[in-house]
Amino acid sequence: MALMVPALMQLVLLFLVSSGRRASSASSFFDEDILLGSAFRDASGLISQRRERNGSSGSKSSWGEGGWKEEILWLARRPETVEWLKRLRRRIHENPELAYEEVETGKLIREQLDGMGVEYCFPVALTGLVATIGTGGPPFVAIRADMDALPIQEAVEWKHKSKVPGKMHACGHDAHVAMLLGAAKILKIREHHLKGTVKLLFQPAEEAGIGAKRMIEDGALMDVEAIFAVHVSHEHPTSVIGSRAGPLLAGCGFFKAVIRGREGHAGNPHHSVDPILAASAAVISLQNIVSREANPLDSQVVSVASFNGGDDLDLIPDSVIIAGTFRAFSNASFYQLRQRIEEVIIQQSSVYRCTTSVDFFEQERFYPPTVNDEFMNEHVKKVAIDLLGPENYKIVPPMMGAEDFSFYSEVIPAAFFYIGIRNETLGSTYTGHSPYFMIDEDVLPIGAAVHAAVAERYLIEHG
Ligand SMILES: *[C@@H]1O[C@H](CO)[C@@H](O)[C@H](O)[C@H]1NC(C)=O
Ligand SMILES: *[C@@H]1O[C@H](CO)[C@@H](O)[C@H](O)[C@H]1NC(C)=O
Ligand SMILES: *[C@@H]1O[C@H](CO)[C@@H](O)[C@H](O)[C@H]1NC(C)=O
Ligand SMILES: [Zn+2]
Ligand SMILES: [Zn+2]
Repeated sequence: MALMVPALMQLVLLFLVSSGRRASSASSFFDEDILLGSAFRDASGLISQRRERNGSSGSKSSWGEGGWKEEILWLARRPETVEWLKRLRRRIHENPELAYEEVETGKLIREQLDGMGVEYCFPVALTGLVATIGTGGPPFVAIRADMDALPIQEAVEWKHKSKVPGKMHACGHDAHVAMLLGAAKILKIREHHLKGTVKLLFQPAEEAGIGAKRMIEDGALMDVEAIFAVHVSHEHPTSVIGSRAGPLLAGCGFFKAVIRGREGHAGNPHHSVDPILAASAAVISLQNIVSREANPLDSQVVSVASFNGGDDLDLIPDSVIIAGTFRAFSNASFYQLRQRIEEVIIQQSSVYRCTTSVDFFEQERFYPPTVNDEFMNEHVKKVAIDLLGPENYKIVPPMMGAEDFSFYSEVIPAAFFYIGIRNETLGSTYTGHSPYFMIDEDVLPIGAAVHAAVAERYLIEHG
């Protein structure tokens, strides 16, 4: 709660930090992007010539309103776009930054947005930012990328291996940033097609620190009526989209209980209050929550993973600490587990005259389930199939992993989807958080195109 900013202050803050920073200077590293910008301008010139030749009217692009697929894919797949996306992703991959430390990553993003003439608010949630493209008016739709890396030593030997010992983009957030910047580029070029405003959320601290919650507290969802995000997945072939309606990722929480008794000689137990017995009873009782209180068709887990107290064979200790994790797929079950774990530990300890406090780390590691809104999921599915064909869309089963995207999906209709990065030839077959994790970079333009199309089509359908 210490991180909360009162709503009115958020408004003022957001207003103060809002600024339309037009491109004046581009970074030296990305000088080529200036060229890329003009290439796009040439390209639009080319587009309008073609339109005139084709004799269509009323549309600013050769493909017209109905040609959004072709144009978005064409923009995304242009060789200079693909090269630029790879450069961005590799630059971020080489310099991974952990939660709330995404300073250079953020700077790179802002340079790119400046170069495109895209406006943004910075900072949001310390190191994050929110860019806007479109009319500036409603409806507002959001697309999100996370920016943080993991405390893992990269084991992949390649030219653009992490240059920071012990840190690695092992979850693909480097690709997420590149794809969202690609979407920014596409949407900026097609801004005249937007029937509202797209907010692009570059979010810090997904892996730790629940950056999504902080983005919301800082007003990132203000006026936004729907939000979408994509995550790379080694379970699907490159560029295949996967999603499902309803629960997609588990809610994941942790608990740590300090059970306090009174120290005393173990030979005269009546002079002590024994926390070991209290903790033992609590551990046994915790097993009953899932087995006796949960619907067997509603998957849930409670695991005690740590039990510590005392180190003297002849002394009953003052306190015992038990700790563990819990998972559930529905919001109600997740919060119910949290409540029952607390009640069971506290009340079971009190039977044995102990006093207990339970910490749920709600500011650091507390992820409700990610639940896809039925209509938003349908939207993703429709856009993916329209854009990439039915063979490139799959309905996926729920998974035990967790995502802080759930904080957005708790507040507004949302859909989280996967994009495949699996390519046996390249060896991109390792799961996220593996030191061998790598992606097939051919995913980048497709990810950018899907992001852009999901946002643009949402505005067309709801504008
Ligand atoms: C121009 O029109 C032809 C015939 O109507 C069509 O096949 C073609 O795709 C159009 N080209 C563009 C660039 O819109
Ligand atoms: C999930 O449950 C919590 C606690 O009951 C509640 O505050 C929150 O609004 C719920 N979210 C959704 C999406 O139902
Ligand atoms: C895997 O990557 C190789 C090399 O880039 C490429 O030729 C091949 O088409 C890719 N395969 C798939 C299934 O994407
Ligand atoms: Zn991760
Ligand atoms: Zn991730």
